[in-house]
Formats: sequence, structure tokens, C-alpha cells
Amino acid sequence: MKSINIEDLHDQARRTLPRLVYDYLAGGALDERTLKTNRDAFQQWQFCPRRLVDLRHIDISAPILGEAAAFPAVVAPTGLNALFWPEGDLALARAAAHSHIPFTLSTASSLPLEHIAQHAGGRLWYQLYVIEPVLAQSLVERAKNTGYECLVVTTDVVVNGKRERDMRNQFALPVRWRPSLIWDGMRRPGWSWRYLKHGLPVLGNFNTPEAKTKTARAALLSRAMDASFDWEALDRIRQQWPGRMLVKGVLHPEDIRHCQAMGMDGVVLSNHGGRQLDDSRTALDVLTELPPMPGFEILMDGGIRRGSDIAKAVALGASAVMIGRAALYGLASSGQVGVQQALDILQDEYRNALIQLGCPSSAQLGRQYLHRNTPSPSLPVIHPSLETL
Ligand SMILES: Cc1cc2nc3c(=O)[nH]c(=O)nc-3n(C[C@H](O)[C@H](O)[C@H](O)COP(=O)(O)O)c2cc1C
Repeated sequence: MKSINIEDLHDQARRTLPRLVYDYLAGGALDERTLKTNRDAFQQWQFCPRRLVDLRHIDISAPILGEAAAFPAVVAPTGLNALFWPEGDLALARAAAHSHIPFTLSTASSLPLEHIAQHAGGRLWYQLYVIEPVLAQSLVERAKNTGYECLVVTTDVVVNGKRERDMRNQFALPVRWRPSLIWDGMRRPGWSWRYLKHGLPVLGNFNTPEAKTKTARAALLSRAMDASFDWEALDRIRQQWPGRMLVKGVLHPEDIRHCQAMGMDGVVLSNHGGRQLDDSRTALDVLTELPPMPGFEILMDGGIRRGSDIAKAVALGASAVMIGRAALYGLASSGQVGVQQALDILQDEYRNALIQLGCPSSAQLGRQYLHRNTPSPSLPVIHPSLETL
């Protein structure tokens, strides 16, 4: 049956992937409260549509870091994409290029960053994890030499969040065929057939001398980041990288201001899709508290499953959203075709929301189209002007 929304693609991904892989994709940290709150945050806002507006010309495009995108979205960096579909990184990048939105390649990609630069097309951003300083330096250099447009430095994974689904499933890197995976794989023949043919994924960016030093190998094996990574170290990367640069994973207003002061082009407000510190604030909530910051772009992510979610984020001041699991559900269900379906669904729903709002363009979308719900009072409140009737 054709998927008509992201939840349909999610269902399909659940049916297609072995349990261990599905849980890695869909799960969050600890009690998964942030995973849920990320979605709930959107429900706190309702639309206030305007009527009788001339809507013959609708322009849903939006500038992201100075260049027009077809709609205000970017494909988020996600690691181990080949677990969901062989050459998953390429499938995501190509679908993003086809949709005219940027794609962000993760440090933990399955294909090397040079391969993506050569074969994907479109606007390419590179996401950096600082696992070890020398290794980080060499990854930045490689991204620079291959022409990535923007460097996205992720700051919210000093250690991995405690993901209990992964612990129960004994999810570990490198992923190997173990009895539980073989058993589960037998019930997911499509997935297993693809992996018998293509092999299980590897980390594609670490086949260099810098990744083979003793310290780098130890850091990679422990799956922990460089614990000494701080503002000064970030500034050194800023000096090394001549292009656009965003800091991902910040939520505190002072951190956001610090990023602006040190010459970043913007931030991605994010709690890592609820996969890191459970009970973190949602990016949407932080967004509502920020003053306008001209010349400094605020992107956000977490829980984007509807085009109307994108409309709310943009109305609250985001220049774009990052799309994480929504694109991965598409990828897991049918590769590049599925990612394309996910992006088309979100784009169509976003356009539909704008038209129904009576808002002719992304540029005109603002807070005046939203109303924040207050908790329902126990007794019905009668508007003062109606009391005299
Ligand atoms: C399977 C998976 C892998 C991820 N890997 C990375 C990564 O390598 N680097 C990174 O910065 N964020 C990573 N993230 C976080 C996403 O970039 C993004 O912040 C998050 O998925 C947004 O929430 P959403 O999935 O609810 O849209 C990952 C998320 C998922 C679901």
C-alpha cells in the first residue's frame, strides 16, 4: 500500500528491519521521555489562519545559509545509514539533491566523504564528531578539499546516551552476524538478502593513517568523544574551516550567544532526537525564547514528522529544520525511492499548511500565525465581552 504520511513509512520500516536495527533507529535514551516530548512540543502550538488572502502565487522556498532551498529543510546527519539500506548515505544525499535541499553527511557515515562528494550531487554539508583532535583535523581538511559547503560540529555526544533498547539487543559496533541477528534476519528476508549481498556496514571515513594511530583507535573503539573538546578547540576548528559553519546540539541561550560571538554562521538547536540526555529541553521550546538574531541562522530538529511541524518551526523563527528519522524511515522502507517519498510528503504538507494558513510564502511566515495553548482550565472561561449577553 502506498505510504501517504511519515507514520506509514515508519510502519513499513518497522516491518522491514530486524529488531536490533529498528530499535537503533527509532529508540531514544533512558525512559525515552525526550523522544516523546519532541513530538508533543508541536501540539502546544495551534495555527491562526488568515482568510481572503490572494494565494495564486505560493513560494515555499527559503534561503538556507544564503542559498535558496526548495523548502526550509535539510537532511540531518545520521550514522550507520547503510544498516538501513546498502549505500544509504548516497540514497539520502541523492534524494536531498533531487528535492533541492542540503544533505548532511555524518562522521559515522558508511561511505567515505570523498565518495559522496563525487557521486551525490546537490548541496553537501559535513558533520564533524571530535573523536580525537588529530583525527578531527584531518576530517576537516578532507571535507575542505572535497568542497563541502558547510561544516556542522556536533557538540552533544561527549558520551553516548544510555539507550536501553540497544543494551537489551546487545547492539555493538562493528555490527556482526550473531545468532539473534541471524534469527531476526530470517524473519526479514528482504533486509537479510540485501546484507548477504552487500555485507554489513563499516565506518567509511576511518581508513586513513590518522584513524589508525593508537589513540584514535582507542577513541573509536570506546565510541566516546574527545572529552577535552571545549570552546577553544572549537575556535581552532573555526580557524581551520574557511566556509560556513554551524554548531549542532546547543540548547542553552548562553551557548547560542557564544557561538554567535565566535563567528559561527548559526546553530542547530537539537537534543539529538532524544537519543542523548533524557529530559533535555526541546529545540522548539528554546526557539520560542530566542530574540531575533540577524545574520545568524537558527536551525532546529527533533520530532519533525509533518510539513505542518516545519511551518510551526519557521513561524517561530527557524530558518530551516533538520529531518532525521522521517528520512530514515523512508530509507529503510525502500532506499532512495523511500527517502524521496518522505521528502515529497513533508514538502507537500508544508505547502498545504502555508496555503491553508493564508500565508503566500515562507518569507512571510511568522509568529502572528500561531497561538500557544494554555493548559485547559477546569471550568469553561467565558470571554468578558460575552458575559453581558
Ligand atoms: C539513527 C540515528 C543516527 C544519528 N546519528 C547522528 C550522527 O551521526 N551525527 C549527528 O550529529 N546526529 C545524529 N543523529 C541525530 C540527528 O542528526 C537529529 O538530530 C535527530 O535525528 C533529529 O530528531 P528526529 O529523528 O526526531 O527528526 C542521529 C539520529 C538517528 C535517529
